[in-house]
Amino acid sequence: MSSDAISGVPLSPSRADAEYADGIDPLGFARRRFCLPDGLIYLDGNSLGAMPAAVPEAMTDALTRQWSTDLITSWNGNGWWELPSKVGNRIGRLIGAADGQVLCGDSTSVQLFQSLVAACRMRPGRGTLITDGSGFPTDQYIAESVARLFDLEVIRVHPSELPKHLDDRTAVVSLSLVDYRTGELFDAEAITGAIHSVGAVMLWDLCHAAGAMPVSLDAIGADFAVGCTYKYLNGGPGAPAYIYLAERHLAGTDLPLTGWHGHRSPFELDQHYRPASSVERARIGTPPLLSMLALDAALDGFDDVSLYEVRTKSLALTDEVISYADRFLAEFGVEVVTPREHDRRGSHVSLRMPHAYEVCQALIARGVVGDFRAPDLLRLGITPLYLSHTEVFEAMQALHDVLATGAYADPAYARRSAVT
Ligand SMILES: Cc1ncc(COP(=O)(O)O)c(C=O)c1O
Repeated sequence: MSSDAISGVPLSPSRADAEYADGIDPLGFARRRFCLPDGLIYLDGNSLGAMPAAVPEAMTDALTRQWSTDLITSWNGNGWWELPSKVGNRIGRLIGAADGQVLCGDSTSVQLFQSLVAACRMRPGRGTLITDGSGFPTDQYIAESVARLFDLEVIRVHPSELPKHLDDRTAVVSLSLVDYRTGELFDAEAITGAIHSVGAVMLWDLCHAAGAMPVSLDAIGADFAVGCTYKYLNGGPGAPAYIYLAERHLAGTDLPLTGWHGHRSPFELDQHYRPASSVERARIGTPPLLSMLALDAALDGFDDVSLYEVRTKSLALTDEVISYADRFLAEFGVEVVTPREHDRRGSHVSLRMPHAYEVCQALIARGVVGDFRAPDLLRLGITPLYLSHTEVFEAMQALHDVLATGAYADPAYARRSAVT
């Protein structure tokens, strides 16, 4: 990966351009906040973010002091009880939510169920639940299940087709802000407005947006939102998800999973459920504390970081991937499926190509980690906090090399593991 040119054609940007951009990168300091193996170019932070350097110390403290020494007194003495709200507020600051509206806990799938049921309960008598037929499977599966509970018809549409399907029968619309496959970014404000204009309730899945760009839930008048924390928020494998309940809905939100932690006075051990009046009503049962403590430490990675700078760098790096693919990879049948317009692009680039699975494996063998999405997409995730322009340049050169040499044809790269 040392040459700056392929067949004598200068690359755009050149290695020198990339190194110059790194030299003046206002986010360059953030790389030191993450642990990554030397020589590895990690383009999969849109699946599992890199480990923030603050996490091992926080975990050591959680294990050797909080759990092993302080034991049960940690609920009060080490702030375990308040953690779901504390971490929720920290996430809220990254997604444009004022304090008191975001609660951390459980998985995205659970939070999708919680919020979809609550949203449907807000619109009795309506007949349809709309979701994106290309959306992430769990979003569609949970929507189907909730629709069965409420006897609603599920309508699957691409967000661009939404206006044709919205009417006074629409109860709830559930969409991802960024498409997990194509990386397409949707207009949250316009869509939320359109949904409200027919009196329906909106649920946003922020999995592929939070931490990669500014999100303004309060400003767009969002109703509900959910998201995971193991992607761009770098919370770690199995890190707990979050739910956003807009303040104006708090008092009236009837959540279905009425665990004892969401009771207004859990330690009265009441026989009947009475929800907390605050966002604490979104608590369910005992949270995964070790994971939540890791996430709390991981969020330090965003201290003093401007999400506008994150977005600017994300767009610059994804521009570089797209421009390289257009110029040097089209001859191998590579097609950029991610929108080229900045306001329609999230923070990963998806390249459609023959043998995408094998190409992905061959890249991993060269120390460039992206991922594959069936049937034919190579996804390259761009995490501006820890990726440099030079790494992106080198990753694209490695991809060119894998395609040009046919290295992906090695049968070893065709073997499918359980997780692709
Ligand atoms: C849009 C979206 N929603 C949900 C999930 C995952 O849900 P869970 O955290 O419950 O596994 C993913 C995982 O990649 C996703 O991309």
